[in-house]
Amino acid sequence: MAENTIIHFNHVSKQFDGETILRDISFEIERGKFYTLLGPSGCGKTTILRLIAGFLEPSGGTIEFDGHSVNKLPPNKRQVNTVFQDYALFPHLNVFENVAFGLRINKLPNKEIATRVKEALHFVNLDGYENREIADLSGGQKQRVAIARAIVNRPQVLLLDEPLSALDLKLRTAMQSELRQLQRRLGITFIFVTHDQEEALAMSDEIFVLNKGKIEQSGSPRSIYDEPINRFVADFIGESNIIPGNMVRDRVVSFAGKVFDCVDQGFDENEAVEIVIRPEDLELKQRGEGLLQVRVESQLFRGVHYEIIGKDKDGNAWMIHSTKSTKLGEEIGLFFEPEAIHVMRHGESEEDFDRRLESYEGVCHV
Ligand SMILES: Nc1ncnc2c1ncn2[C@@H]1O[C@H](COP(=O)(O)OP(=O)(O)O)[C@@H](O)[C@H]1O
Ligand SMILES: [Mg+2]
Repeated sequence: MAENTIIHFNHVSKQFDGETILRDISFEIERGKFYTLLGPSGCGKTTILRLIAGFLEPSGGTIEFDGHSVNKLPPNKRQVNTVFQDYALFPHLNVFENVAFGLRINKLPNKEIATRVKEALHFVNLDGYENREIADLSGGQKQRVAIARAIVNRPQVLLLDEPLSALDLKLRTAMQSELRQLQRRLGITFIFVTHDQEEALAMSDEIFVLNKGKIEQSGSPRSIYDEPINRFVADFIGESNIIPGNMVRDRVVSFAGKVFDCVDQGFDENEAVEIVIRPEDLELKQRGEGLLQVRVESQLFRGVHYEIIGKDKDGNAWMIHSTKSTKLGEEIGLFFEPEAIHVMRHGESEEDFDRRLESYEGVCHV
């Protein structure tokens, strides 16, 4: 276990009414980092937060804080606080009393309460808002009060369950960077839940990608984006072209009826694999040039780039992001670097995947 580990999930499972919701989840959370649980609705994100907060008990395995099992420890004894999506503020109390609520329950002296509330409001950029009514606040301000209330008793870990999903896009983007800055200033661990992959990529030190109660892959945003372990992750994180292929031998792969150099290794000869190439890694060329020929089937202007769909002669559809425009029905060439090809092995476990990448990453990505 890493020295900095604060929370350790050790083969944790959770069943509701005999139905398995989380299966054999293991991970470590380190102090002072920003983590994101990312996955589609119903995959078990909120259940994991509730297990950490102590509102639920695991059906199997152990949850440890600082190396000690907390399976039986009640929520109020854990160094954890939660920010909920719907804020859960008290509408009849003003900002000060909303933030002070937990401190009053813990019977802290008034002077200490006043100091802590002021400090918490300062952290979320709400200096001077003490006497405002909740009803008079904007969505973003309510969100900040909810965060101030959660940090006022100085938890070690802050859990945030889709806290931004009720906000409109512009405010949401602003709050994303605000939350990230707040986490750095506080220096505590954030565990943030979202189903939005862009949000996860923008905010996190580390992402856990969840699917059907299982962690599919964990790692930095960059590593998950560049090296997705399987089709689910490749598809869920960003736009991808996922094409069936064949590993001819180490660093040589065939797909779309042609043979290409790549950087991937550790497969069997002629092993059936899946290929991922990101749309932004495909470069438009004149007809007859490049590595692959496609016919343009559709084109949409996306503001920054064109999103072009072309079909190769095997019938594979390729999405291309380009600042150049094409004509419908036109034949174009595509070029891509060997590094842009990412090869995925069917059914590979995260341990085997990491081991295989480590065995050649030092060689190829210098
Ligand atoms: N208290 C409960 N009793 C029975 N089923 C539950 C309960 N809480 C959650 N579930 C089920 O567990 C699954 C995962 O739920 P949840 O953790 O809320 O997913 P997410 O937050 O990723 O959307 C869902 O199928 C949900 O219906
Ligand atoms: Mg949820």
